[in-house]
Amino acid sequence: MAGQAAAAVHPERWPRAHWPFPADPALEHKVAALMAQMTVEEKVGQLIQADILSVTPDDVRKYHLGAILAGGNSKPGARLTADAKQWQALSDAFYRAAMERHDGRPAIPLLFGIDAVHGHNNTVGATLFPQNSALGNAHDPELIRQIGAATAAEVRATGINWTFAPTVAVPQDVRWGRSYEGYSQDPRLVAEYSRAMVEGLQGKVGTPQFLDDAHVIATAKHYLADGGTKDGKDQGDAEVSERELIDVHAAGYPPAIDAGVQTVMASFSGWNGVKMHANKALLTDVLKQRMDFQGLLVGDWNAHGQIPGCSNTDCPIAYNAGMDMLMAPDSWRGLYEHTLAEAKSGAIPMARLDDAVARILRVKFRAGLFEAGLPSAQPLARRADEIVGSPAHRALARRAVRESLVLLKNNGGVLPLDPRKRILVAGEGADNISRQSGGWTLTWQGTGLSNANFPGAQSIGAGIARQVAAAGGHAEIAVDGRYTRKPDAAVVVFGEDPYAEFQGDLPNLLYRPGDDHDLQLIRRLKAAGIPVVAVFLSGRPLWVNREINAADAFVAAWLPGSEGEGVADVLLRSADGRVAHDFHGRLAYAWPRTALPGHGAPQFPLGYGLSYAHGATVPALPEVSGIQGEQIPVGNYIDRGKPVHGYSVSLVGADGDTVSADVSSAATADGSLRMSALDYRAQEDSRRFAWTRDQATLAVRAQAPLDLDRQTNGDVLLVVTLQVDALPGPDAWIGLGCGTQCQGRVALGPQLAHLASGQWSRVGVPLKCFRAAGADMHHIEQPFQLGARAGSSLAVFRVALGTDADEVVTCPK
Ligand code: BGC
Ligand code: BGC
Repeated sequence: MAGQAAAAVHPERWPRAHWPFPADPALEHKVAALMAQMTVEEKVGQLIQADILSVTPDDVRKYHLGAILAGGNSKPGARLTADAKQWQALSDAFYRAAMERHDGRPAIPLLFGIDAVHGHNNTVGATLFPQNSALGNAHDPELIRQIGAATAAEVRATGINWTFAPTVAVPQDVRWGRSYEGYSQDPRLVAEYSRAMVEGLQGKVGTPQFLDDAHVIATAKHYLADGGTKDGKDQGDAEVSERELIDVHAAGYPPAIDAGVQTVMASFSGWNGVKMHANKALLTDVLKQRMDFQGLLVGDWNAHGQIPGCSNTDCPIAYNAGMDMLMAPDSWRGLYEHTLAEAKSGAIPMARLDDAVARILRVKFRAGLFEAGLPSAQPLARRADEIVGSPAHRALARRAVRESLVLLKNNGGVLPLDPRKRILVAGEGADNISRQSGGWTLTWQGTGLSNANFPGAQSIGAGIARQVAAAGGHAEIAVDGRYTRKPDAAVVVFGEDPYAEFQGDLPNLLYRPGDDHDLQLIRRLKAAGIPVVAVFLSGRPLWVNREINAADAFVAAWLPGSEGEGVADVLLRSADGRVAHDFHGRLAYAWPRTALPGHGAPQFPLGYGLSYAHGATVPALPEVSGIQGEQIPVGNYIDRGKPVHGYSVSLVGADGDTVSADVSSAATADGSLRMSALDYRAQEDSRRFAWTRDQATLAVRAQAPLDLDRQTNGDVLLVVTLQVDALPGPDAWIGLGCGTQCQGRVALGPQLAHLASGQWSRVGVPLKCFRAAGADMHHIEQPFQLGARAGSSLAVFRVALGTDADEVVTCPK
C-alpha cells in the first residue's frame, strides 16, 4: 500500500531547530519541587483544557485543570459584545479558583488561551489587523513583529495570557476555507513570518521583554500539513510524501522553535491516513526530539476524538503519541475521569504523564504566571481603555492594509483617483466592516454582524468618503450603485461572505457561482461611461477574470480588517495631487487562470503586483472558467424551493404512502399532506406544505449518506428559511434521518409560535440537538424532515447548513 510506505518517518532527514533556552537548574528545581507535592489527580488535571462555556471556576478548583480557552463563539456571559472589563472579570474568577486555594493543595496558575489571530479579534473594539493571507503580500517581517506585539498587548489588557497563533500553514489548495489564516503558499515566506510573529507575540528570547507583562504565549499551528490536505478539505488527509512535508509544510516550525515558541498545536488533519494527534513519529520523534521542541504540545478542539479507538472523552493514544494537553472544550470531565484511570492503570505510563506535566509547568514558570497576580490588576489590564483599539495600534493596522493591497490591473492609469472629484463607492463591501474582516471576527465564522458591532472601526467606503470630503471632492456611498449625480469614477467593493473552518471549503475556485450581480454592477457603471476601480475582498485568490476584464483597475484587498481607510490611502491622491502611498503588495498566493485548482500556469504568479511606479497594461483575460454545469454551494439541500442536485424531496402520508415531490405541486395519496408552489423573491421559488392530518411528513433524501460529524462538533446549524401560515399546536418538528430505525427530532413549536404569520425567517437548529436527540451524525440519509399536525401550513424557501439565523432553537432537554 502506497499510503503505508509513504507514512514512514525518517527523523534524520528533518531539519534541526535550536531550543533557545539554556539548561536552567533553578527552573528544574522549581518544577520538581512542585511535582513532588502533586497527586496523580492534580497531574492529570494539568493535561486538560476546557472551554469557558462548559466549565466553571468551581470545576477548575475541583479538578485542578491546567488550562481554559475561549473558542470562537465563547464569550463572557455568552455576550457577543463582551468588552475588556468583562473578559478581565471572567479571567479573575478563574484565576482565583486556581490560585486562592483553601484546601492546602498547591496553587498552580491557569493558562487561558484564545484565538487572537488577526488582532484580539474576539473582543469588541479591538484593533483588527488584516488576515494573514493579506499580510503575506507585504513581504515585511518587521511589520509582522509589530503586529504581534500590538496584538499581545491587547490580549494582556483583557487578562488573557495565551494566543493560538500564529498559523504557519502553507496552503497548497486554496479551496481550503482556512487558506486566509496562512501567510503564503511559499514556505520561505511562512518561515520568515513565523519567527517574526512568535517574537512579536512573546518578545525576543534573552531580552527583558520576553514573556513580560506585555506579551503572551504563542502557538505555532496546526502541526502538520493542515494546508496540505487532499482537495483542500478541512480536517482532511494530506496525501503527500515525507519530502513535501519537510520542504513545504514544516517550514514554519524550526524558526518558531528557534524563536522560543512555547506551544505547538496539533492539526485535526492526518498524514497518509494517520491522524496527527496519533502520529507518534511526527509528534515525538520529529517535533520534540529532532526539532528539540521543549514546550507544550496542545491538541485542537476535540480533535483527539477523531482517532480510531478514541472518543472526545477518552484518548490515551494521543497522550502516548506525545500530546501534552488535549483541548476538551465540553468533554473535559469525561476525559479527566478516563485519563485518571489510565494514568493509574499504567495505560498512560507515569513517565509520560510526568513529562507532560513538567512541560506544562515550565511554560507557566517561563511566562511568569506564578507571580503575575490577579489578571485585572496587571499593568496592561489597568490601562485596557488606552490599549484595546488604541490609535497607535489602529495606525499600525492601517499601514498593514496599505502594504498588503495588490494591484492586479490599472489600465489607462485610472488609479490613483483624484479626491477633488466626484467619487461613487458601490458594492456590498462598500460599507461593511464584517465583510472586510472575514471569519474569526467576534464570532467564530464572522457571520451575523453589523457595523454597530465594530466601535472605532472604519469601512472602506467611509475611509474614501472622509478623504474625498477633506480634499474638497464629493463622495457618495451607494451599495446598489444607483448614484444621485453621475460620478467621475466609481469604486466597486465586493467579495466573499465571511467564513471559517469547513464552512469556507469550496469545490472549485468560482466566485459566487450562479450569482453575477457584482459583475453586472461593474458592467452597468462602465456602460454609463464611468471609469471603474474594482476592490475585491477575499480570503484567497478566486477566479474573477470576468470582473477583472470588466473593470479598468482591479485591486486584491484580501481581508483588511477594521482600518478601511488604508485602502483610501493608496487609491486616492493626496489633496495637493501627489501620490502619497504607492502599492507595495506582491502576491503571496498565485492567482488562478481558471476555476480548476492546480491546472496549468496561474493568471498572475507569486510575486506579481503592479504599482504606480511600475505599471503595465493587462490585456483581456480568458473568460473560460473550466467548470461546467450549475454550481451548488456545499451543504445546501433545498434551494429556491427545490432539492439541489444529489437530493430529492418526498411526502410521506399519514398512512405511510410516499410520493416524490421534486416538482412544483404534489400530494400524498391519502391527501394528508399537500405541496404547492409559492412566490417569495421570484416566481415559484418556494413550496408550501399543508397538513390535513397529523403524522404526515416531508423528507429530503440524499443520494449518498452524509457524514455531518465535524459540522456537529462545530457550532453549525441546519438553517431553514421558512414562513409560518398556520400552526395550530406547538408540536411541529424538524428531524434528521439516519436509517430506518434511526432519527433525531427537535421540536420547534414553542419557537415558531411567536413568528408572525406570513413573515419569512431563518430558523436555525444546532446540529448538536439532532445528535442529542439520537441521530447518528456520521450517517445521515435524510438531512431534513419536517412534521406538523393537521391544520398546519408552512412554506420553505431554503434548507442549508450555516451559522447565521434569525432564530436559533434551543435544544430540548
Ligand atoms: C468554537 C470554535 C471551534 C469550533 C470547532 C466552535 O464552536 O467556537 O472555537 O474552533 O467550534 O469545531
Ligand atoms: C481550530 C483552532 C482553534 C481552536 C480553538 C479549532 O477548531 O482548528 O485553530 O485554535 O478551535 O478555537
